[in-house]
Amino acid sequence: MNVLLLGSGGREHALAWKLAQSPLLGSLHAAPGNPGIANHATCHALDATDHAAVVAFCARQAIGLVVIGPEAPLVDGLADTLRAHDVPVFGPSRAAAALEGSKGFTKDLCARAGIPTAAYVRCTSRTEAAIALSGFSLPVVIKADGLAAGKGVVIASTFAEANDALAMMFDGGFGAAGAEVVIEAFLTGEEASLFALTDGTTTVAIGSAQDHKRVGEGDTGPNTGGMGAYSPARILTPELEARAMAEIILPTVQAMADAGTPYSGVLYAGLMLTPTGPQLIEYNARFGDPETQVLMPRIEGDLLPLLLATATGTLADAPHPRLSHDSALTVVLAADGYPGTPARGGAIAGLDAAALTGATVFHAGTALVNTGLPDAGLVANGGRVLAVTATGRTVTAARDKAYAAVDAIDFPTGFCRRDIGWREAAREAGSWSGAGPDAAQETA
Ligand code: AMP
Ligand code: GLY
Repeated sequence: MNVLLLGSGGREHALAWKLAQSPLLGSLHAAPGNPGIANHATCHALDATDHAAVVAFCARQAIGLVVIGPEAPLVDGLADTLRAHDVPVFGPSRAAAALEGSKGFTKDLCARAGIPTAAYVRCTSRTEAAIALSGFSLPVVIKADGLAAGKGVVIASTFAEANDALAMMFDGGFGAAGAEVVIEAFLTGEEASLFALTDGTTTVAIGSAQDHKRVGEGDTGPNTGGMGAYSPARILTPELEARAMAEIILPTVQAMADAGTPYSGVLYAGLMLTPTGPQLIEYNARFGDPETQVLMPRIEGDLLPLLLATATGTLADAPHPRLSHDSALTVVLAADGYPGTPARGGAIAGLDAAALTGATVFHAGTALVNTGLPDAGLVANGGRVLAVTATGRTVTAARDKAYAAVDAIDFPTGFCRRDIGWREAAREAGSWSGAGPDAAQETA
């Protein structure tokens, strides 16, 4: 079977790496891909916003499955177009992708289906928001309704901050994404992510992860797309995972089907593990980045039939996904300046030496310059540049292996966090106090 994979990040490199291992794979095509993906796939300059061009490409290359990596083409309805042309596609319809594309939509669905999530109010004007805000205690969470590249959430510890955030959003700080705002109660607990495949009827969990969203060590500084991650999130015990499936994910799939907009693809639930149980923070309608870089190495067996069964509504007949008991951890190497404006063009070397450590280096934002010339070189071409991933019996072992590979890489204009996996490593050392990183060190 020929497969077309859309996207260009570390998530898509991890998917390409895993799909390339499938005995069922004919040829793998990627658009636009990246230099790492090019090791497994033929990369094409195909514009995913040009639906007719994607359909024509699929016909020309006899594509049997399209895998959509990022959220933008989903919210843009590319999966609907492909389905209308009978091309099997892994990824939800535009209507179902509203689970990621509109926070208010998801909150209303939770309210209807009795899914545990923070109390909330949807607001479409500042006046409405000012009135609603007075009903909340502090801290309070202010969210732009639409897609805001992971930046549309403000946790305000004073009402002044909350009002500033509301003013910024209604003044167009996030463009159309902030035309509607959700105000919600602050939840306390530890966060974990749970991933499930669903074809709209059958739903199976395919692993958990925790990521590090802040740019700085000790989980400080501005939010990023994710500076590292590990899987599994052992804090999401089998009992809590079963509750999250029964109380959150399955009712969501059912509610989407009941509404006539069945969800098909991967459902990525951001959970808060509160003292009363898991609560939904948000959904994503796609795999996580960099979470995919730690999920793929743990999936045993063939990914392609699972994605195909999800796409074709035959998940009930597919083999249940099997996950390795090992842990996987990934460290993101980012370009200086990230999450602000990243330095572009910085040279990267040492990837062969890194591979010798047994780690896998996924490309996230790289480019090859001077291709065809003897000094062709790999350079940084994005905020997050590489995701260096290793597996081990424990998160600590995976972490040590990943950092050994990081140390073999020469990327002078890049940086990484040195503490990826700190919570889990402290737990494994039996020294976690449940507080911040400093407390963990004190008791170590
Ligand atoms: P979201 O984009 O909805 O995932 O929010 C981004 C981050 O903001 C989450 O990963 C949480 O760390 C935090 N957050 C969002 N909603 C809440 C909430 N209701 N209570 C506490 N933290 C939250
Ligand atoms: N790492 C967070 C995300 O993919 O949304």
